Amino acid sequence: MLTKQLGPHGPHVSAIGIGTWSWGDRLFWGYGSQYGETEVAAAFQAAVAAGITLFDTAEIYGWGESERLLGRFQADHPSSLCLATKYGPVPWRLTQDTVLRAIRDSLSRLQTDTIDLYQVHWPFSFLMSYETLFKALATAVHQGLIQTVGVSNYSVDQMRKAHQLLAQQGIPLAVNQVRYSLITRQIERQGLTAAARDLKVTLLAYSPLAQGLLTGKYSSGQSPAGARASDRRFKPDGLRKLAPVTNLLQKLAMVHDKTMAQVALNWLIAQEGVIPIPGAKTAQQATENVGALGWSLTTDEVAALSEASRPWL
Ligand SMILES: NC(=O)c1ccc[n+]([C@@H]2O[C@H](COP(=O)([O-])OP(=O)(O)OC[C@H]3O[C@@H](n4cnc5c(N)ncnc54)[C@H](OP(=O)(O)O)[C@@H]3O)[C@@H](O)[C@H]2O)c1
Repeated sequence: MLTKQLGPHGPHVSAIGIGTWSWGDRLFWGYGSQYGETEVAAAFQAAVAAGITLFDTAEIYGWGESERLLGRFQADHPSSLCLATKYGPVPWRLTQDTVLRAIRDSLSRLQTDTIDLYQVHWPFSFLMSYETLFKALATAVHQGLIQTVGVSNYSVDQMRKAHQLLAQQGIPLAVNQVRYSLITRQIERQGLTAAARDLKVTLLAYSPLAQGLLTGKYSSGQSPAGARASDRRFKPDGLRKLAPVTNLLQKLAMVHDKTMAQVALNWLIAQEGVIPIPGAKTAQQATENVGALGWSLTTDEVAALSEASRPWL
């Protein structure tokens, strides 16, 4: 199984991770109605059986339920997996102590003694300074509560600042988790991909299937349930605009005997220092997404996809 490293000194993990926002989330994803614990447990088992070692969650997903489910599922796989979670800067958390308390709560839900990757979910500095936040995270590393530190949704400047503050404590910034797919490539234009390579920060690509749009299963006659139904990109006009990308995905899928999702993920895997973390609600989705590994688009095919998706830069 192809592996990539998280930052310059972090663990080596499978070159695809599994995102678990939908595990326990009723509001956006409809957990508990169209699918439930049986399905996500099967997704976890299928992913682990296929060699996936990286699982991404957050304290806010399902108000803790995603962490609780992942904690229960991973209990049989001590130390072989890399569990990544996120801390949300909600306003009443003003001191270093509150960060450490949030970590202990996540440890308890995840049923583990240490968190492999702890990420700051969004940039914020209005109530807690970057200095205070990253000092608290450095303390957590020194106490062994967390192993590596990451950020999420950080701009180039914010990422550089986080990197610098952690470096002062002798700790590398391991990852920046950002929205990145064939139809969300703004981070390239903003210089984030180049800056991350420069700093040796791994990019975890979230929503790498554009929440299902790049799988080809949604069409004018087939809309998603729940919150995505009101997303303009899933409406007939939005889907039509994606045709240059989805048509090429379909063509390349046929050439390689793969699915469109696997081709879309393979394009991300081909990007240096990038690990996609597609969500999977079922064993079938997990298995299909892991199938983006073990083969490669040619250099020309990667370039052709980059060209077709240039309007989304
Ligand atoms: N840091 C952040 O701010 C942030 C934000 C968003 C997400 N994330 C992380 O990134 C992960 C992934 O992002 P995401 O869930 O937003 O989007 P995504 O991975 O692009 O899409 C996931 C959704 O696509 C569908 N799907 C997945 N695999 C499929 C397959 N093989 N065939 C057909 N449909 C498939 C499923 O929904 P349906 O079956 O219902 O279509 C699934 O829930 C999250 O779980 C989370 O860990 C982080």
